[in-house]
Amino acid sequence: MTGLPSFSRITRFVLTQAGPVPDVQAVHDPLPMGPDDVRVAVIQTPILPSDLNIVSGTYAYHPPLPYALGREGVGRVVSVGARVTRVTVGDRVIGIDPYPAYGFWATETVLPESAVWVVPDAISDAVAATLAVNGLTAWLLLTQFKSGDGVIQNAANSSVGAWVNYWATELGIHIINVVRRPDAVSEVLQPAGPIYIEGQQSVPQASVGLALNAVGGPSAGLMLKALSPRGTLVTYGALAQLPIPVSNAAFIYRQLTLTGFLRSEWVRQMGADAVRVTLDHLASILSQRVISLPAGYPMLFPQNGFTGVPLPWMPPTL
Ligand SMILES: NC(=O)c1ccc[n+]([C@@H]2O[C@H](COP(=O)([O-])OP(=O)(O)OC[C@H]3O[C@@H](n4cnc5c(N)ncnc54)[C@H](OP(=O)(O)O)[C@@H]3O)[C@@H](O)[C@H]2O)c1
Repeated sequence: MTGLPSFSRITRFVLTQAGPVPDVQAVHDPLPMGPDDVRVAVIQTPILPSDLNIVSGTYAYHPPLPYALGREGVGRVVSVGARVTRVTVGDRVIGIDPYPAYGFWATETVLPESAVWVVPDAISDAVAATLAVNGLTAWLLLTQFKSGDGVIQNAANSSVGAWVNYWATELGIHIINVVRRPDAVSEVLQPAGPIYIEGQQSVPQASVGLALNAVGGPSAGLMLKALSPRGTLVTYGALAQLPIPVSNAAFIYRQLTLTGFLRSEWVRQMGADAVRVTLDHLASILSQRVISLPAGYPMLFPQNGFTGVPLPWMPPTL
């Protein structure tokens, strides 16, 4: 369909109150579509830690409510508006920032054409569903910061951790992986560099110029000790919700740099075209070698009655 506004009955999950006891509604209502929009039937959508933080009200960004949940995902275009030129019905697409709320936890969502990127056939649904946030974040962490000879990362069994190991292989970067429990060793994407378990093994001094910190607290402290003089610790997540223990000596004698990274801020600064160029480049790499996401990565499958990982506050599909 082209040209006319279209409405359909859909189910989407909408946050109406954030906090420890959130209110999430399953909504069936018409989703209006304009001439510059595409309507997307959602295939897969991950449950990102930031989605959960938005629900619990613990994320730095507090969206205006009601808020259509689901920050990323992959879907198939089912109709396009009259002025849409680059996207056609049948294309698989993912959302790219700076569009603020994709609303991918839905059977269908409507996005401006300017906010979508067409997924090449060589990329699977599961990979496409986490490319725009975690895949891009991992790529930027490895390419925007000076790494010297090697990189150490914690939460290595996470989705971002898997992407870091994948891109590092392509970039020829040596990765030292840190996980917090023995079972997680087998969840780290292979091939990977050495894997250490927090609290059980100390990480030997190595030539490590960059530490990628998703956790904070003692885990970040362990990585600071492994850094070479003048190395950099980049914090991009705070999973443990604990401050980073850093000594004055780390700054004075080892001249470490502590900084941070936020993908959405990079996207805001660089603009949608830069995201497209980067995703095109990443797609060319992905078409050469398949990546497998960590087993059990939480996904929702909206077209299949929202099967996937149940969330305690998620109402049953109507
Ligand atoms: N700054 C940015 O632009 C940006 C972009 C994307 C993602 N992120 C952040 O990156 C982090 C990873 O995201 P993801 O989607 O890759 O996560 P994920 O696949 O869901 O994995 C979660 C990871 O966090 C670990 N974890 C959970 N709770 C923890 C705790 N209390 N202490 C230590 N580790 C804990 C888990 O370890 P176990 O398996 O042992 O439980 C697992 O390794 C999140 O903080 C996310 O918000 C930031």
